[in-house]
Parts: sequence; C-alpha cells; structure tokens
Amino acid sequence: MSETALDALLHETRRFPPPETLARDANAQPALYDEAAADRIAFWEKQADWLRWDRRWTTALEWDPPFAKWFVGGRLNACVNAVDRHVEAGFGDKVAYHWIGDGENETRTITYADLQRLVCQAANGLAELGVQAGDRVAIYMPMIPETVVTILACARLGAPHNVVFCGFSADALRGRILDADARVVVTTDGQFRRGSPTPVKPAVDEAVDGCPDVRSVVVVRRTGGDVAWTDGRDVWWHDLVDGQPDSHDPEAFDAEQPLFMMYTSGTTARPKGILHTTGGYLTQVAFTHRMVFDLKPDTDVYWCAADIGWITGHSYIVYGPLCNGATSVIYEGTPHPADQDRWWKLIEHYKVSILYTAPTTIRTLMKWGHELLEPYDLTSLRVLGSVGEPINPEAWMWYRTYVGGGRTPVVDTWWQTETGAIMISPLPGVTTTKPGAAMQPLPGISADVVDNDGEPVPAGGGGYLVLTEPWPSMLRGIWGDDERYRETYWSRFPDIYFAGDGAKRDEDGDLWLLGRVDDVMNVSGHRISTTEVEHALVGHPMVAEAAVVGATDATTGQAIVAFVTPRGSVAADVSSGDEFVQALRNHVAKEIGPIAKPRQILVTPELPKTRSGKIMRRLLKDIAEHRELGDVTTLLDPSVTDAIRGRMSESGSED
Ligand code: PRX
Repeated sequence: MSETALDALLHETRRFPPPETLARDANAQPALYDEAAADRIAFWEKQADWLRWDRRWTTALEWDPPFAKWFVGGRLNACVNAVDRHVEAGFGDKVAYHWIGDGENETRTITYADLQRLVCQAANGLAELGVQAGDRVAIYMPMIPETVVTILACARLGAPHNVVFCGFSADALRGRILDADARVVVTTDGQFRRGSPTPVKPAVDEAVDGCPDVRSVVVVRRTGGDVAWTDGRDVWWHDLVDGQPDSHDPEAFDAEQPLFMMYTSGTTARPKGILHTTGGYLTQVAFTHRMVFDLKPDTDVYWCAADIGWITGHSYIVYGPLCNGATSVIYEGTPHPADQDRWWKLIEHYKVSILYTAPTTIRTLMKWGHELLEPYDLTSLRVLGSVGEPINPEAWMWYRTYVGGGRTPVVDTWWQTETGAIMISPLPGVTTTKPGAAMQPLPGISADVVDNDGEPVPAGGGGYLVLTEPWPSMLRGIWGDDERYRETYWSRFPDIYFAGDGAKRDEDGDLWLLGRVDDVMNVSGHRISTTEVEHALVGHPMVAEAAVVGATDATTGQAIVAFVTPRGSVAADVSSGDEFVQALRNHVAKEIGPIAKPRQILVTPELPKTRSGKIMRRLLKDIAEHRELGDVTTLLDPSVTDAIRGRMSESGSED
C-alpha cells in the first residue's frame, strides 16, 4: 500500500470490525462480557478452573479494602501449571520456546519436556544453596533461556523472584536486593549486545559489595572470558545445576503465596517493590493471554518482544504463554539500525502468528520504512498487540496496514506492573477497533474515568483512570510498606484504585489512554520517575539543583529533559561545557542505568520558581516541548524562563 493510501485510511471512519471468520472462531465471544457482568466472581472462578489446583479454594475473594485475597484456601504450584501439567498431558515434545540469540546463528529450541528437566535441575540446585519457600532470589540476567528457567525454579520452590532488568546499574540493583532482602543472586558473566560481549557480573559484584546478607551468587557462563570471583560466595551455574537430578517433587503452595516482586518507579525517588501472589495472578495472565491474543495453542507461534526484566516479560513471555501451553519466540536482541529487517526475517522464518510489542518499537520500524517488509512473507501473522505507552493512530495504522497486511486486528492493551495482567483491551473476534483506543475493560474488570471529585465523566469527557473493583492479578501490596501501598493507590479516591493515568471516554463510551498524570515519565515504554532522575543529578557533587521533565518525543513517546543548576563555586566555563553535561549523563547512568540518561541536559544559573520557592516544572515542560509558556503569573522572576529558553534554542539534543 502506498503512503497516500495510508494517509487516506487515516482520514476514513477509522473503525475496524473483526473479520467474519475470526469473529466466528475466536476464543472470546460477545457473551463473555454479559457472563462476567452477571456474576463477576463466578466468572473469575471459572477462569481459575483452567489451572491445576492441588486443593480447590473455599472463598473466591476476601476484600478488605485495599487488601485482597483471591481463591482463599486454594493450593497450587505455579511451575507445575506452567510446565509439568503440559508434559503430563502428552505435550512434552511441544516447543515451549524458540530462542534466538543476539550473536551469529545462535538458536535453541526448548520443548516442554526440556523445560521441565532444566527447571527441576535448577530447583534442585537452588535448594542445595538453601533456598526455601518464602526466600527471595534476585535475578539479574539477559534474555536467555536460563532466565526463564531460574524464574520457574524459584516458583517451583515457592521462593519469590525479584528480577531486575539487566540495564539497571549496580546501585539500582543493590537497592532492590536490599529492599527485598534477597540472599541469593543469579546472574551471568556477560551478555551479547549486537553480537558483542559486554560484562554483567561486575555490576553484581559492585552491588553485592553493599549487601552483607547475600550468601550466594550463581553465575551462568554466557560470554566466556575472565570474571572476578569471590570464593565461597560465587558458584558457576554449570557446577551447581548441570549435575542435579532432572526430577523434583513440587510442593503445592497457598494461592496467596508471594510469587514475585517487581520494582517499579513511582513519584518518589525510591522504587516500589510491587508484590504479586500465585493463584489470582496466574488465573488472570492465562485468561488474558488466551482471550486478548485469541491464542490457539496447537497452531500459534507467539512472540512477545518485551524484556523478561519487566512485567510484560513476566506475564506474557513466561507465565501466561506457559500456563496456556503456547509456543513462543524469545529474541535476545532489540531492533538495530545495522540489521533493520531482522524482525521480518524472524517472523517469516518462525511463522509467527501473534506479535506483541511496544509503540516505540513500532515507530522505530516505521521510521525504517515499510519497503523493508516487502521481501518477506508475513501472512502467518493474525493478531498484533501493543503495550506500554499510548499508541498514536499513525503507528497503529502502520502496524495494521504493513505488518498485518491490513487483515489483522490490533489490540492496544492497557495495564501496569501493579495490575499484573491486561485490563483494558479489544478482543480480536469481538471488538470493532479504533486506531489509538484501548476500547473497553476486559470481561471481569471494572474501570472508569472520573473527575477531580471521583465522579464518573460523561461520554466525551476526560479525567483519571480508576479501577473500581478488585481483580485477581492485582498487586497485593508494596513489599514491606502497607502504608505506602494505601497512600499511593487508594487515597486519591477512597477505596478505588487510582492508576496514575489520564484517560478519555469518547462518545461511544470507548477508552483512550492519555499518559501519566503524575511525575512518572514513559520513555520507550519504560517507566522512569522524574524524582528519581532529579535525585541522581543532585547527588553529583557539582550540581546544586535539578528539575526533570518528560518531553514529547516522536520515537520514544517521551524523552528525559533535565535542567541543572551548577554549584555556586564551580567555574561557569566548566559547568556549561559538553564535558560537564556528559559527566552528568554518565552519572545518571551509573546511579540508575543507561535507560535513565537524559536526552538533553540544560545547564542554567537558575530554575523558574514560584514566590514560595517551588520549581515550576510545568513551565519547564513547556520550554522542553518548545511551546508557548502557560500561566506565569506566580513566577518569582520571569527573566529566568527567558534565559532558559534562550539556552534551549542554542543547545541541540544529546544522542
Ligand atoms: O501510563 C501507562 C502506560 O504504562 C504505565 C505502566 O507501566 P509499567 O508498569 O512499566 O507497565 C508497562 C507494561 C504493562 C501505565 O500506567 N501504559 C501501559 N500500557 C499502555 C499505557 N499507556 C497507554 N496505552 C497502553 N496500552
């Protein structure tokens, strides 16, 4: 299709009903909404029945706002549900994962039977290190099969895992290990990035240096080469795991047994350990994975291109697909300018039928051009998913038109680390979609858009997105901090979950997500707190003050822009130079991780403040987005903003 045809489509009615055959054969039918509306709890119980329970629950939901317990009294093992169950049902030879490494010609095919053996060995290995039910295990690993194996081994033992994205710094890792009080860390010697080895273990060594209670560091050999070694603490994966028996007796745990914690950024400098438990989480991730992607486990090849280090990877690379017995692709790499058609090659080769990725990636692939897709047969694709940030209608249309050949439904899925699973999304065989809209809450989910007073907005209105009823995969709290849990999510509107997102309800009652309404930025689908970056910047000895805003960016959704005031005595010539800016960017990378590096840092003698001394971030955002300034009447010294604007127009953006 030509660019003009795409343009024309963008101006058409913009409604895409499901293709007839899909509507007929899809897993989800319109009646599902009625069924859930008639009895929400019975509906979720029916979904929970898809899992294997060693003991059935006695009460489906105990709700003592804001604390929920689902499937109370039930007992199950998450790993058995993800792996053993399928082997016992005769699907041992079925491929669980096609893994493709970021190096040359590196692939692995892992069946469900392979996975069962690997996981049992790993569970036996961890048990030998003394890991028991309830112990936290930190995982700092790239996208390799051993990462999934470690996660499942922890689940098998009832030991909550705390996976930290490998792009986080040693400092960030240390904070998460300490907060979770993990005693064992699993990592690799290094990882491949664009085919080149880069070290991983040094960050763990540095992090664990400040964690006196960590007794073991298990190291998977991934890249080879020398690594520093601490005898008595460090142990090679192959020494610990490879010789273990490949069977392991799984124990059934309480439905509310903690399954994992995942740290995520909020409005304060300290990340929060979002806690998920077992029965409700598995129920909802499996249900949504089946329905939202219309999964047909016998024929589909599913590819979720997220990183396992984020919630999307947990729910839709590991637990959801495995609980449904799906065949998935895991690709270690990310789109790279030197290898622009890699994705299309992979889709053709593996006959991928369901693709799930983030708008940032779609926009990057779009920038490289649809011509790159033409040599490839992508007709295997039948459902396309989007997640992590608002998807602009142009990217949505490009995705459907070029990647999906104009045939495939696009499901824009809204959810969060806290929700554990998809909450608002079209259903492929049911929903008539609109480019850019997440449409309706899934069956069993109650969402609303409310105004400042918590009153629902009428059709056509905008406001705050809230979730009005508990759901099975909801976070059970913030690790070790019930008060913060209450305060963060349940205090803005009493007993109603406040998601932190703005949303619009259109004339048809469909939902459009508008992005965060708090101090959280969304950069390439990664959640980063402005406060956290500010905190890192002011931690630099030459910085007096810093203010950080998320500015709209055509590719990454938002980009980090920092305004920094150097310390008084620091020579002005140093502080305004590139070297200083570079030093600050590196400092942020060291404190948090490369993902938090500001795109642009503007060094300025002063920041705009109100008469009461508050930094006016709103104005800085206007400046960063090159907009006319909003209300400046409360500004103490209006000349400050003029000076910053002058500097902004002189400076280019970094990288
Ligand atoms: O702002 C919303 C945005 O991502 C936030 C959640 O980030 P995180 O916990 O890292 O989880 C990302 C993957 C689920 C939300 O508060 N977000 C996520 N999905 C969408 C979205 N914004 C708009 N549309 C979406 N589909």
